[in-house]
Formats: sequence, structure tokens, C-alpha cells
Amino acid sequence: MDYNNPNGIVSTEQIPEGMVRWKSPSNIALIKYWGKHGNQLPRNPSISFTLEAAFTETSIQYRARREYGSGLEFSFYFEGEENPAFGERIGRYLNALLPIFPFLKQLSLEIRSGNSFPHSSGIASSASSMSALALCLCTMEERLLGVELDNEAFDRKASYVARLGSGSAARSVFPKMALWGKLNEVAASSDEFAIGMAARLHERFHDFRDWILIVSREVKSVSSTAGHDMMNNHDFAEARYAQARRKTHFLMEHLSHGQIVEAGKVIEEEALTLHGLMMCSMPGYVLMEPETLQIIRAIREFREKSGVQVFFTLDAGPNVHMLYSGRDEEAVEDFIKTRFPQYMEPERSIRDKLGAGPVQLD
Ligand code: PMV
Repeated sequence: MDYNNPNGIVSTEQIPEGMVRWKSPSNIALIKYWGKHGNQLPRNPSISFTLEAAFTETSIQYRARREYGSGLEFSFYFEGEENPAFGERIGRYLNALLPIFPFLKQLSLEIRSGNSFPHSSGIASSASSMSALALCLCTMEERLLGVELDNEAFDRKASYVARLGSGSAARSVFPKMALWGKLNEVAASSDEFAIGMAARLHERFHDFRDWILIVSREVKSVSSTAGHDMMNNHDFAEARYAQARRKTHFLMEHLSHGQIVEAGKVIEEEALTLHGLMMCSMPGYVLMEPETLQIIRAIREFREKSGVQVFFTLDAGPNVHMLYSGRDEEAVEDFIKTRFPQYMEPERSIRDKLGAGPVQLD
């Protein structure tokens, strides 16, 4: 796939002032992307559920620059305030995208972004923010260059562009469920972009919830960029990539056949594997907190005793994602009320569910 566009310059007179705005959700990986190579290419396929309540809204206001060189002209506001630290990351990203969107250097851009969840909640925002930005850029290209893509081609391009900002963002472009990474049995799958898998998701999973328990709001001690890097000289790397491939295959089967118990088993093993890999990296590190383990044990005990099929997964951090069917909402709420009432406070949790994917707002 080559999206580079050497001819993508517009006549400056033809650039109207305008604005694009997208809302894009976060996603939770069930099979984790952990380890990369080349230009943000994954070492193994990953599968995720697309969320609904945790999202980023991004707008780009653009107008023509009379004079332009090779550099970019943009300002970046996060939740209403200019944010130089985030702005720097966005600047590096936009510069890297110039071969695809050369018209960016002809524009003066004002980018505004905000999350539905507190930035300090320990919930990764790169998936929602980078996908929202990528969608805005693809819409701008359509408008300015008159590029017309059908929905499928547009989503694929947005996913490709999002991937270059943050690997996991490639999966946020699609409703309900996405697969990123080449898997032989899924012909359309690719390492370069994710594909939507909602059509293969059994209806039993369509009303699944993700109740996120915010164990800690601390910024994590090891970034995911550093974590991916450590996979490069990890003793278990090759075995891990082969295992992830196998697990993706089996989890796809379970998700498409409505096998909740079997799917849950793979999902939990996978969460613990991610943290196991971190613990035996060089140097090893622990992102779980004592309360993370208490919750995990309690979920397993509750499931065993009650028969309610609720499972946990973890991202690269201490927070716990509880996955369960909507029909078990009351039972799960009773469990939290009894065992961990502190998570009934809205600032300690996000009650999310599978969502319909990004929405263009203007
Ligand atoms: O997208 P990145 O580079 O922040 O990596 C995300 C890695 C995990 O969140 C731990 C797993 C995943 O697949 O989302």
C-alpha cells in the first residue's frame, strides 16, 4: 500500500477556509499489539473491541498560507489550552505525514482536541486522539484535492494514517471489533491497516460492556514506546509472536461462534501474558498495583461462585477492564458494590460498551 502523493499540492487560490471535526473512540485490545518493527508495523496481529463512552473530539480549522516553505504552521490546543508537549508530538506526526498529505504545508492549521475522559485517568488516549486526527486529515484531503473514496477505502486510509501516529489507533476506525495485522485466514487483513470485524462478531457479544476500574491515575512509569522497544531483545519474543498468532486465530473462532467462556479464557490469559512480558523484559517492570491483583482474584472468584461470565483484561497499566454481557449488568454492579464500592464513584470508573465507531461532526 503506497499512499504517498507527490502531486498533492493545491493552487493556493483554490483553498477555501474551512473546518473538519471528528469524534473517535478508544478501543480495548483483546489480543495485544506488543512489539513492532519498521514504520509502526506490528510483530503480531491484534484484535480489539471499539468503545463508545471513551472518545476524543478533534477539529482542524484551516486556511491557506500565502507563503510557504517546507515547514508546517499549526497551533495545538488540548481541552481549550495551548499544549506545547502534546503539540510537539502532533508536529512530529504531521511532518512524517507530508509525503501523504503534501498540501499540509500550504495551510495554517488550528487543531483543537479534547477527551470525554480525564487525561489523567490512566486511560490511554493515543488510540482515540490519533484516529480522530487521522480522520480529520483524510476528510481535508477529500475536500481540498477532490479525492473521492468509497467508505471502505476511506476507512482503510484513515486506519493506515492513524497507525503511523499510534499503532493501536489503527483499530479505532471501525465499529464494534477490529483486527490489525496479517492473519492468513482473513484475506483482507494487513499489517498496514486494521479492518472492521463487526460482521464476524456473534450477536452474543454485541451488547458487551467494558467497565473500566481506574486503580491509579498516575502516568505510567514505562511508556508503551519503551515497552515495544524492549520486545526487540526479549528472550521470549519469537515464542510470544507465534503464540499471539495462534491466540488470534482461536479468539476469532470463539468470537464468531458466540463462545463466551472460551473467549474469556483467551482474553484473560492474554492480559496476564502482556504483563508477564513486561515483568521479564530487560529491565523488567511491573505496571500492576496490589489492587489490580485483588480485583483480578475477586473477579475469578465471583465468576466461579455465581456463574456470571465476567472477565478481565488489562492495558499497559494497572487499570482493570471488566468485560461482560449487558444482561449481567445488575449482577456485576452488585459485585462491585459489595467488593469494591469505591469504584461506584464516577471519577474512579468509566462504564463503557461496544460502540459504533467514529462520527464526523460537521
Ligand atoms: O498504540 P501504542 O503504541 O500505544 O501501543 C499500545 C499497546 C497496548 O495498548 C498495550 C496493546 C494494544 O494492542 O492496544
